[in-house]
Amino acid sequence: MPFTLRNSICAFAVLFHISCISVASGQSCDCSSAIVPVHVDVLLPKDPTDPFGGLKSNASSLRRLNETYDVFGVYCQPKTAQSTDVVQLLVHGFTYTNQYWSPATEEFRNQSYTDFACDRGLPSFAIDLVGVGLSSRPTNASDVQYATHSAVVTQLARHLKTASILPGVEPFKKVIGIGHSAGSVTLIFGAVAEADQSPFDGLILTGNLIIEPGTLLTIPGVTSARNDTPLRWGALDPDYTTTNNRSILYPTDPTSFSPRMLIFDAFTKDVGTVATFPGLSVSSLTTNYTGPVTKVVGSKDQGFCTGTDRCDDVAALTATERVLWPEAKSFQVIVAPGSGHCMNLDFLAKGPFNTFVNLVNQFVAL
Ligand SMILES: *[C@@H]1O[C@H](CO)[C@@H](O)[C@H](O)[C@H]1NC(C)=O
Ligand SMILES: *[C@@H]1O[C@H](CO)[C@@H](O)[C@H](O)[C@H]1NC(C)=O
Ligand SMILES: *[C@@H]1O[C@H](CO)[C@@H](O)[C@H](O)[C@H]1NC(C)=O
Ligand SMILES: *[C@@H]1O[C@H](CO)[C@@H](O)[C@H](O)[C@H]1NC(C)=O
Ligand SMILES: *[C@@H]1O[C@H](CO)[C@@H](O)[C@H](O)[C@H]1NC(C)=O
Ligand SMILES: *[C@@H]1O[C@H](CO)[C@@H](O)[C@H](O)[C@H]1NC(C)=O
Repeated sequence: MPFTLRNSICAFAVLFHISCISVASGQSCDCSSAIVPVHVDVLLPKDPTDPFGGLKSNASSLRRLNETYDVFGVYCQPKTAQSTDVVQLLVHGFTYTNQYWSPATEEFRNQSYTDFACDRGLPSFAIDLVGVGLSSRPTNASDVQYATHSAVVTQLARHLKTASILPGVEPFKKVIGIGHSAGSVTLIFGAVAEADQSPFDGLILTGNLIIEPGTLLTIPGVTSARNDTPLRWGALDPDYTTTNNRSILYPTDPTSFSPRMLIFDAFTKDVGTVATFPGLSVSSLTTNYTGPVTKVVGSKDQGFCTGTDRCDDVAALTATERVLWPEAKSFQVIVAPGSGHCMNLDFLAKGPFNTFVNLVNQFVAL
Protein backbone atom coordinates (compact mmCIF):
# COMPACT_ATOMS: atom_id res chain seq x y z
CA MET A 1 0.00 0.00 0.00
CA PRO A 2 1.42 3.41 -0.92
CA PHE A 3 1.89 6.22 1.53
CA THR A 4 -0.70 8.99 1.42
CA LEU A 5 0.91 12.37 1.61
CA ARG A 6 -0.50 15.10 3.73
CA ASN A 7 -1.17 18.51 2.17
CA SER A 8 1.57 18.02 -0.34
CA ILE A 9 2.01 20.06 -3.47
CA CYS A 10 3.87 17.33 -5.27
CA ALA A 11 3.11 13.69 -5.77
CA PHE A 12 6.45 12.00 -5.57
CA ALA A 13 7.76 13.93 -2.62
CA VAL A 14 8.29 10.74 -0.69
CA LEU A 15 10.95 9.51 -3.05
CA PHE A 16 12.55 12.79 -3.96
CA HIS A 17 12.29 15.12 -1.05
CA ILE A 18 14.62 17.49 -2.85
CA SER A 19 12.23 18.16 -5.68
CA CYS A 20 9.14 19.06 -3.75
CA ILE A 21 7.70 20.90 -0.82
CA SER A 22 5.35 18.91 1.32
CA VAL A 23 4.04 20.66 4.33
CA ALA A 24 2.43 18.64 7.03
CA SER A 25 -0.28 20.31 8.99
CA GLY A 26 -2.95 19.01 11.26
CA GLN A 27 -6.35 20.38 12.10
CA SER A 28 -4.89 22.78 14.64
CA CYS A 29 -1.74 23.80 12.79
CA ASP A 30 -1.02 26.38 10.10
CA CYS A 31 2.26 25.47 8.39
CA SER A 32 4.27 27.32 5.74
CA SER A 33 7.66 26.72 4.28
CA ALA A 34 10.30 29.42 4.41
CA ILE A 35 13.77 29.86 3.00
CA VAL A 36 16.04 32.01 5.12
CA PRO A 37 19.46 33.15 3.82
CA VAL A 38 22.00 32.63 6.59
CA HIS A 39 25.51 34.03 6.56
CA VAL A 40 28.10 31.73 8.08
CA ASP A 41 31.60 32.98 8.92
CA VAL A 42 33.34 30.27 10.93
CA LEU A 43 36.59 28.43 11.48
CA LEU A 44 36.50 24.78 10.44
CA PRO A 45 39.09 22.11 11.15
CA LYS A 46 41.03 21.34 7.98
CA ASP A 47 40.49 17.70 8.94
CA PRO A 48 36.71 17.13 8.87
CA THR A 49 37.13 14.03 11.05
CA ASP A 50 38.42 16.11 13.99
CA PRO A 51 36.50 14.68 16.98
CA PHE A 52 35.90 18.15 18.47
CA GLY A 53 34.87 19.85 15.25
CA GLY A 54 37.72 22.38 15.62
CA LEU A 55 36.71 23.56 19.10
CA LYS A 56 40.05 22.45 20.56
CA SER A 57 42.20 23.13 17.49
CA ASN A 58 45.00 25.63 17.12
CA ALA A 59 44.88 28.25 14.38
CA SER A 60 47.17 26.34 12.03
CA SER A 61 44.74 23.41 11.79
CA LEU A 62 41.70 25.60 11.10
CA ARG A 63 40.42 27.26 7.93
CA ARG A 64 37.83 29.98 7.40
CA LEU A 65 34.44 29.35 5.81
CA ASN A 66 32.63 32.53 4.80
CA GLU A 67 29.43 31.69 2.89
CA THR A 68 25.74 32.49 2.72
CA TYR A 69 23.39 29.51 2.57
CA ASP A 70 19.67 29.23 1.96
CA VAL A 71 18.14 27.36 4.87
CA PHE A 72 14.81 25.68 4.26
CA GLY A 73 12.38 25.23 7.12
CA VAL A 74 8.73 24.62 7.90
CA TYR A 75 7.13 27.06 10.31
CA CYS A 76 3.99 25.82 12.08
CA GLN A 77 1.81 27.76 14.44
CA PRO A 78 -1.42 26.96 16.23
CA LYS A 79 -4.47 28.12 14.22
CA THR A 80 -5.82 29.60 17.38
CA ALA A 81 -2.55 31.42 18.02
CA GLN A 82 -2.95 33.78 20.94
CA SER A 83 0.32 35.56 21.45
CA THR A 84 3.25 33.49 20.26
CA ASP A 85 6.13 34.67 22.40
CA VAL A 86 8.11 31.46 22.11
CA VAL A 87 9.19 29.36 19.16
CA GLN A 88 10.85 25.95 19.09
CA LEU A 89 13.76 25.60 16.66
CA LEU A 90 13.83 21.90 15.68
CA VAL A 91 17.09 20.35 14.48
CA HIS A 92 17.06 16.87 12.92
CA GLY A 93 19.77 14.19 13.05
CA PHE A 94 21.84 12.18 10.55
CA THR A 95 20.02 11.35 7.27
CA TYR A 96 16.77 12.93 8.46
CA THR A 97 15.30 16.29 7.41
CA ASN A 98 12.75 18.67 8.91
CA GLN A 99 10.30 15.81 8.34
CA TYR A 100 11.69 13.97 11.38
CA TRP A 101 9.48 16.33 13.37
CA SER A 102 6.42 15.67 11.18
CA PRO A 103 6.49 12.74 8.75
CA ALA A 104 4.55 13.91 5.72
CA THR A 105 2.08 11.07 5.53
CA GLU A 106 -1.37 10.68 7.05
CA GLU A 107 -0.50 7.22 8.36
CA PHE A 108 2.10 8.69 10.73
CA ARG A 109 0.14 11.68 11.89
CA ASN A 110 0.57 10.48 15.47
CA GLN A 111 4.33 10.80 15.02
CA SER A 112 4.13 14.54 14.26
CA TYR A 113 5.69 16.55 17.06
CA THR A 114 4.87 19.81 15.29
CA ASP A 115 1.15 18.90 15.27
CA PHE A 116 1.34 17.75 18.89
CA ALA A 117 2.98 21.02 19.91
CA CYS A 118 0.46 23.13 17.92
CA ASP A 119 -2.37 21.33 19.71
CA ARG A 120 -0.80 22.61 22.91
CA GLY A 121 -0.26 26.18 21.72
CA LEU A 122 3.41 26.03 20.73
CA PRO A 123 4.81 27.11 17.33
CA SER A 124 7.89 25.54 15.79
CA PHE A 125 10.40 26.08 13.01
CA ALA A 126 11.84 22.77 11.74
CA ILE A 127 14.82 23.23 9.44
CA ASP A 128 16.83 21.19 6.98
CA LEU A 129 20.49 21.50 7.94
CA VAL A 130 22.88 22.84 5.29
CA GLY A 131 23.78 20.01 2.87
CA VAL A 132 20.42 18.35 3.49
CA GLY A 133 16.93 18.35 1.99
CA LEU A 134 15.90 21.64 0.44
CA SER A 135 18.64 23.74 2.05
CA SER A 136 21.80 24.70 0.13
CA ARG A 137 24.14 21.78 -0.49
CA PRO A 138 27.79 22.89 -0.66
CA THR A 139 29.72 21.17 -3.45
CA ASN A 140 32.46 20.26 -1.01
CA ALA A 141 31.19 18.04 1.82
CA SER A 142 34.04 19.20 4.06
CA ASP A 143 32.26 22.57 4.31
CA VAL A 144 29.43 20.75 6.10
CA GLN A 145 30.63 20.26 9.65
CA TYR A 146 29.24 20.88 13.15
CA ALA A 147 30.75 24.40 13.17
CA THR A 148 28.74 25.15 10.01
CA HIS A 149 25.50 23.68 11.41
CA SER A 150 25.99 25.42 14.73
CA ALA A 151 26.56 28.80 13.08
CA VAL A 152 23.38 28.26 11.03
CA VAL A 153 21.13 27.42 13.99
CA THR A 154 22.64 30.18 16.13
CA GLN A 155 22.09 32.76 13.39
CA LEU A 156 18.57 31.49 12.84
CA ALA A 157 17.76 31.74 16.54
CA ARG A 158 18.98 35.36 16.52
CA HIS A 159 16.95 36.00 13.37
CA LEU A 160 13.80 34.54 14.97
CA LYS A 161 14.21 36.99 17.87
CA THR A 162 14.88 40.10 15.80
CA ALA A 163 13.10 39.73 12.46
CA SER A 164 10.02 38.26 10.87
CA ILE A 165 10.65 34.94 9.07
CA LEU A 166 7.31 35.02 7.23
CA PRO A 167 4.70 37.72 6.56
CA GLY A 168 2.54 38.15 9.64
CA VAL A 169 4.92 36.29 11.94
CA GLU A 170 6.34 38.67 14.52
CA PRO A 171 9.79 38.22 16.09
CA PHE A 172 9.71 35.93 19.13
CA LYS A 173 10.83 36.79 22.64
CA LYS A 174 12.25 33.33 23.31
CA VAL A 175 13.69 30.50 21.25
CA ILE A 176 14.01 26.98 22.64
CA GLY A 177 16.32 24.65 20.71
CA ILE A 178 15.25 21.01 20.41
CA GLY A 179 17.73 18.68 18.77
CA HIS A 180 17.73 15.02 17.87
CA SER A 181 20.97 13.01 17.79
CA ALA A 182 23.44 14.86 15.51
CA GLY A 183 21.03 17.81 15.80
CA SER A 184 21.60 17.74 19.57
CA VAL A 185 25.36 17.72 18.96
CA THR A 186 24.87 20.79 16.74
CA LEU A 187 23.17 22.56 19.66
CA ILE A 188 25.91 21.41 22.06
CA PHE A 189 28.56 22.80 19.70
CA GLY A 190 26.74 26.13 19.84
CA ALA A 191 26.53 25.98 23.64
CA VAL A 192 30.33 25.52 23.81
CA ALA A 193 31.05 28.21 21.22
CA GLU A 194 28.55 30.82 22.42
CA ALA A 195 28.37 30.12 26.17
CA ASP A 196 26.44 32.99 27.84
CA GLN A 197 26.04 34.75 24.46
CA SER A 198 23.83 31.94 23.13
CA PRO A 199 20.49 33.17 21.75
CA PHE A 200 18.77 29.96 22.95
CA ASP A 201 16.59 30.33 26.05
CA GLY A 202 16.73 26.60 26.74
CA LEU A 203 17.96 23.39 25.14
CA ILE A 204 16.23 20.02 24.87
CA LEU A 205 18.79 17.49 23.64
CA THR A 206 17.19 14.24 22.54
CA GLY A 207 18.92 11.03 21.48
CA ASN A 208 22.30 12.13 22.83
CA LEU A 209 24.55 11.27 25.76
CA ILE A 210 28.27 11.95 26.23
CA ILE A 211 30.32 10.27 23.50
CA GLU A 212 34.01 10.08 24.42
CA PRO A 213 36.43 10.42 21.51
CA GLY A 214 37.40 7.01 20.20
CA THR A 215 34.18 5.36 21.37
CA LEU A 216 32.42 5.76 18.05
CA LEU A 217 28.86 4.62 17.87
CA THR A 218 28.74 1.68 15.49
CA ILE A 219 26.01 2.30 12.98
CA PRO A 220 25.78 -0.41 10.35
CA GLY A 221 25.14 0.61 6.78
CA VAL A 222 26.78 4.06 6.67
CA THR A 223 28.14 4.52 3.18
CA SER A 224 28.98 7.11 0.55
CA ALA A 225 25.68 8.56 -0.68
CA ARG A 226 26.68 8.54 -4.33
CA ASN A 227 27.34 4.79 -4.25
CA ASP A 228 24.19 4.10 -2.24
CA THR A 229 21.74 5.89 -4.55
CA PRO A 230 23.49 6.91 -7.79
CA LEU A 231 20.27 8.06 -9.44
CA ARG A 232 19.77 10.70 -6.78
CA TRP A 233 23.25 11.39 -5.43
CA GLY A 234 25.63 10.16 -8.12
CA ALA A 235 27.15 13.61 -8.66
CA LEU A 236 27.87 14.33 -4.99
CA ASP A 237 31.28 14.62 -3.35
CA PRO A 238 31.97 11.08 -2.01
CA ASP A 239 32.27 12.55 1.49
CA TYR A 240 28.50 12.98 1.63
CA THR A 241 27.24 9.86 3.40
CA THR A 242 23.96 8.09 4.04
CA THR A 243 22.78 4.83 5.60
CA ASN A 244 21.15 1.72 4.19
CA ASN A 245 20.12 0.24 7.55
CA ARG A 246 18.15 2.13 10.16
CA SER A 247 17.22 -0.75 12.45
CA ILE A 248 19.56 0.47 15.19
CA LEU A 249 17.55 3.69 15.38
CA TYR A 250 14.50 1.75 16.63
CA PRO A 251 13.99 -0.50 19.66
CA THR A 252 14.89 -4.17 19.16
CA ASP A 253 11.26 -5.09 19.94
CA PRO A 254 9.61 -5.09 16.49
CA THR A 255 6.13 -4.53 17.98
CA SER A 256 7.14 -1.11 19.34
CA PHE A 257 7.11 0.64 15.97
CA SER A 258 5.46 0.28 12.58
CA PRO A 259 7.42 -1.87 10.12
CA ARG A 260 6.22 0.62 7.52
CA MET A 261 8.14 3.36 9.32
CA LEU A 262 11.39 1.71 8.23
CA ILE A 263 10.13 1.70 4.63
CA PHE A 264 9.09 5.33 4.90
CA ASP A 265 12.48 6.16 6.40
CA ALA A 266 14.22 4.50 3.49
CA PHE A 267 12.15 6.48 0.96
CA THR A 268 12.78 9.81 2.68
CA LYS A 269 16.36 9.40 3.87
CA ASP A 270 18.86 12.15 3.20
CA VAL A 271 22.59 12.69 3.71
CA GLY A 272 25.23 13.60 6.27
CA THR A 273 28.98 13.91 5.79
CA VAL A 274 32.19 12.22 6.92
CA ALA A 275 32.27 14.81 9.74
CA THR A 276 28.99 13.57 11.27
CA PHE A 277 30.23 10.60 13.31
CA PRO A 278 33.72 11.60 14.49
CA GLY A 279 32.34 15.00 15.56
CA LEU A 280 29.77 13.43 17.89
CA SER A 281 32.50 13.68 20.54
CA VAL A 282 31.71 17.40 20.78
CA SER A 283 29.18 16.08 23.31
CA SER A 284 32.06 15.25 25.70
CA LEU A 285 33.13 18.92 26.00
CA THR A 286 32.38 21.25 28.90
CA THR A 287 30.23 24.29 28.13
CA ASN A 288 29.54 27.53 29.98
CA TYR A 289 26.03 27.82 28.50
CA THR A 290 23.81 29.51 31.09
CA GLY A 291 20.25 28.52 30.13
CA PRO A 292 18.25 25.47 31.25
CA VAL A 293 19.17 22.13 29.66
CA THR A 294 17.48 18.71 29.57
CA LYS A 295 18.64 15.58 27.80
CA VAL A 296 15.98 13.02 26.82
CA VAL A 297 17.11 9.55 25.83
CA GLY A 298 15.05 6.39 25.20
CA SER A 299 15.64 3.43 27.52
CA LYS A 300 15.64 1.23 24.40
CA ASP A 301 18.09 3.42 22.47
CA GLN A 302 20.44 0.87 20.94
CA GLY A 303 23.23 3.43 20.55
CA PHE A 304 23.26 4.62 24.15
CA CYS A 305 21.25 2.47 26.54
CA THR A 306 20.56 -1.14 25.59
CA GLY A 307 23.25 -3.70 26.27
CA THR A 308 24.69 -1.51 29.05
CA ASP A 309 23.48 -0.36 32.48
CA ARG A 310 24.20 3.26 31.53
CA CYS A 311 20.55 4.39 31.53
CA ASP A 312 19.33 2.28 34.46
CA ASP A 313 20.34 4.64 37.26
CA VAL A 314 19.03 8.01 36.12
CA ALA A 315 20.47 9.87 39.12
CA ALA A 316 23.97 8.54 38.37
CA LEU A 317 23.58 9.26 34.66
CA THR A 318 22.43 12.80 35.42
CA ALA A 319 25.39 13.38 37.76
CA THR A 320 27.84 12.25 35.06
CA GLU A 321 26.26 14.43 32.36
CA ARG A 322 25.73 17.48 34.58
CA VAL A 323 29.49 17.94 35.08
CA LEU A 324 29.77 19.29 31.52
CA TRP A 325 27.17 22.03 32.13
CA PRO A 326 28.52 23.86 35.22
CA GLU A 327 26.81 27.19 34.46
CA ALA A 328 23.44 25.86 33.25
CA LYS A 329 20.42 27.32 35.04
CA SER A 330 19.14 23.78 35.44
CA PHE A 331 20.20 20.40 34.13
CA GLN A 332 18.49 17.04 34.06
CA VAL A 333 18.43 13.79 32.14
CA ILE A 334 15.12 12.06 31.42
CA VAL A 335 15.10 8.42 30.33
CA ALA A 336 11.92 7.81 28.28
CA PRO A 337 10.76 4.28 29.12
CA GLY A 338 10.59 1.96 26.11
CA SER A 339 11.59 4.57 23.51
CA GLY A 340 14.29 3.98 20.90
CA HIS A 341 16.84 6.38 19.43
CA CYS A 342 14.29 7.96 17.06
CA MET A 343 11.85 8.45 19.91
CA ASN A 344 9.51 10.55 17.75
CA LEU A 345 8.93 7.68 15.35
CA ASP A 346 7.91 4.72 17.51
CA PHE A 347 4.55 3.94 19.10
CA LEU A 348 5.55 5.52 22.42
CA ALA A 349 6.19 8.97 20.89
CA LYS A 350 3.42 10.65 22.91
CA GLY A 351 5.48 10.14 26.06
CA PRO A 352 8.51 12.11 24.83
CA PHE A 353 6.23 14.64 23.08
CA ASN A 354 4.54 15.42 26.40
CA THR A 355 7.98 15.73 27.98
CA PHE A 356 9.16 18.23 25.35
CA VAL A 357 6.05 20.41 25.66
CA ASN A 358 6.27 20.40 29.46
CA LEU A 359 9.95 21.34 29.30
CA VAL A 360 9.36 24.18 26.84
CA ASN A 361 6.64 25.59 29.11
CA GLN A 362 8.93 25.24 32.14
CA PHE A 363 11.85 26.92 30.37
CA VAL A 364 9.70 29.80 29.16
CA ALA A 365 8.43 30.42 32.68
CA LEU A 366 11.98 30.72 34.09
C1 LIG B 1 48.44 22.48 15.86
O1 LIG B 1 47.67 21.29 15.76
C2 LIG B 1 48.23 20.34 14.87
C3 LIG B 1 47.21 19.21 14.71
O2 LIG B 1 46.65 18.87 15.94
C4 LIG B 1 49.57 19.88 15.41
O3 LIG B 1 50.13 18.94 14.53
C5 LIG B 1 50.50 21.08 15.52
O4 LIG B 1 51.70 20.70 16.15
C6 LIG B 1 49.85 22.18 16.37
N1 LIG B 1 50.66 23.37 16.28
C7 LIG B 1 50.94 24.12 17.34
C8 LIG B 1 51.75 25.36 17.07
O5 LIG B 1 50.57 23.85 18.47
C1 LIG C 1 32.71 37.30 3.87
O1 LIG C 1 31.52 37.26 3.12
C2 LIG C 1 30.84 38.51 3.08
C3 LIG C 1 29.49 38.30 2.45
O2 LIG C 1 29.60 37.52 1.29
C4 LIG C 1 31.71 39.50 2.33
O3 LIG C 1 31.07 40.77 2.29
C5 LIG C 1 33.04 39.63 3.04
O4 LIG C 1 33.88 40.46 2.31
C6 LIG C 1 33.69 38.28 3.22
N1 LIG C 1 34.87 38.43 4.05
C7 LIG C 1 36.07 37.97 3.67
C8 LIG C 1 37.21 38.28 4.58
O5 LIG C 1 36.23 37.33 2.65
C1 LIG D 1 -3.34 7.91 16.79
O1 LIG D 1 -3.63 8.16 18.14
C2 LIG D 1 -5.00 8.12 18.42
C3 LIG D 1 -5.20 8.60 19.85
O2 LIG D 1 -4.30 7.99 20.72
C4 LIG D 1 -5.50 6.71 18.19
O3 LIG D 1 -6.88 6.63 18.45
C5 LIG D 1 -5.23 6.33 16.73
O4 LIG D 1 -5.57 4.98 16.53
C6 LIG D 1 -3.79 6.53 16.37
N1 LIG D 1 -3.64 6.38 14.93
C7 LIG D 1 -2.71 5.62 14.39
C8 LIG D 1 -2.69 5.59 12.90
O5 LIG D 1 -1.89 4.98 15.03
C1 LIG E 1 37.25 20.59 -0.19
O1 LIG E 1 37.80 21.68 0.54
C2 LIG E 1 38.99 21.35 1.24
C3 LIG E 1 39.38 22.54 2.10
O2 LIG E 1 39.39 23.71 1.35
C4 LIG E 1 40.07 20.97 0.25
O3 LIG E 1 41.24 20.58 0.95
C5 LIG E 1 39.58 19.79 -0.60
O4 LIG E 1 40.51 19.50 -1.60
C6 LIG E 1 38.24 20.12 -1.24
N1 LIG E 1 37.72 18.92 -1.89
C7 LIG E 1 37.25 18.93 -3.12
C8 LIG E 1 36.69 17.64 -3.64
O5 LIG E 1 37.25 19.93 -3.81
C1 LIG F 1 20.75 -4.02 9.86
O1 LIG F 1 21.61 -4.00 11.00
C2 LIG F 1 21.24 -4.93 12.00
C3 LIG F 1 22.19 -4.71 13.17
O2 LIG F 1 21.89 -3.48 13.78
C4 LIG F 1 21.33 -6.36 11.46
O3 LIG F 1 20.92 -7.25 12.45
C5 LIG F 1 20.43 -6.47 10.24
O4 LIG F 1 20.60 -7.72 9.66
C6 LIG F 1 20.76 -5.39 9.22
N1 LIG F 1 19.74 -5.42 8.18
C7 LIG F 1 20.06 -5.44 6.88
C8 LIG F 1 18.92 -5.45 5.94
O5 LIG F 1 21.22 -5.43 6.51
C1 LIG G 1 34.16 28.51 31.33
O1 LIG G 1 34.45 29.63 32.13
C2 LIG G 1 35.59 29.45 32.96
C3 LIG G 1 35.68 30.66 33.91
O2 LIG G 1 35.64 31.85 33.18
C4 LIG G 1 36.82 29.30 32.08
O3 LIG G 1 37.96 29.08 32.87
C5 LIG G 1 36.61 28.10 31.16
O4 LIG G 1 37.70 28.01 30.26
C6 LIG G 1 35.32 28.25 30.37
N1 LIG G 1 35.06 27.01 29.66
C7 LIG G 1 34.77 26.97 28.37
C8 LIG G 1 34.52 25.63 27.79
O5 LIG G 1 34.68 27.97 27.67
